[in-house]
Parts: sequence; structure tokens; C-alpha cells
Amino acid sequence: QEVHAAELERTFIAVKPDGVQRGLISEIISRFERKGYKLVGIKVVVPSKEFAGKHYHALKEKPFFNGLSEFLSSGPVVAMVWEGEGVITYGRKLIGATDPQKSEPGTIRGDLAVVVGRNIIHGSDGPETAKDEINLWFKPEELVSFTSNAEKWIY
Ligand code: TYD
Repeated sequence: QEVHAAELERTFIAVKPDGVQRGLISEIISRFERKGYKLVGIKVVVPSKEFAGKHYHALKEKPFFNGLSEFLSSGPVVAMVWEGEGVITYGRKLIGATDPQKSEPGTIRGDLAVVVGRNIIHGSDGPETAKDEINLWFKPEELVSFTSNAEKWIY
């Protein structure tokens, strides 16, 4: 049966500056892609500190907010939108716990990171934040909507 792409769940995923510097972009994309999720938007940006603060506005009162905003704006970030059934919750599962010391092996942070301030990846934590973060980072025309037509050329 046909599922219209526009009805599918979307989440915002970002490879943070440490992940980019460490050459982990393709590794991270690969884990979402192999799971079966669909990449519908991607760009490389160096966010300003002000923009980083907007992204993390919910954490404004935390003691680590300033350092966190500074870090996110310290270099290129790979901003992405991934689509598919359950992608918000399952994306968080692929990512692992916030503190890499507590993330399970097999998760992105569990396998590839060591400290909480350098945990290489961000993923929206719920439907509302996913919507807000996608709107903050992307214009509607930067996102694609498509269904696979592979059956027309794979024999
Ligand atoms: P948070 O939204 O709680 O975690 P997550 O990224 O898993 O959704 O926190 C945002 C980021 O803030 C987190 O990825 C790393 C950083 N952070 C710290 O530097 N120190 C901390 O004690 C916490 C909780 C987070």
C-alpha cells in the first residue's frame, strides 16, 4: 500500500563539530541509512553562537549552556532531517544516552564517544522539538519529499 511521504515522521539530526572533526559524518549517516530511514535534507553549516543558543534554548538555565552553545558554533555542523516510521524515538535509540559513559555499546555515542561535552551527535527528543528544530535549521524548500521508484530500474 502507498504511504504518502508528507505523512511520515521526521526528526532533526546533527553531527556536532567534534563528530565532523573526527571524520564520523559517513559513519553516522550510514547507521541511519542502513536502519532504513530516509535522508530528506542535509547541509554543512557553521552556526553562530546566537543560533546555537536558539537551538538549545530549553537548556538556557543550565550551567553548561554557555559552553555548549560556544562548542556547537565552534566549527562545521552537518544538519540533517531524517524521515520514517518512529524515527524520532528510534533515532534517539541509535544515538544512545546523553553521557557516552552510560550509552550502550552498539549505539553511536556508546561506540564512538567518551565524554558528555563531546558526544558527537544531536537528535530531537520529541515530536514538538523535532518540528521546532527542523524549522529552525531548514527552509521548507531545502527538504525533499519523495517515494522510491526503485522497482522501475532494479530487476
Ligand atoms: P540534553 O538535551 O540533555 O541531551 P541530548 O543531547 O542527549 O538530547 O543536552 C544537550 C547537550 O548538552 C548534550 O548532548 C551534551 C551537553 N551536556 C553537557 O555538556 N553536560 C551535561 O551535564 C548535560 C546533561 C548535557
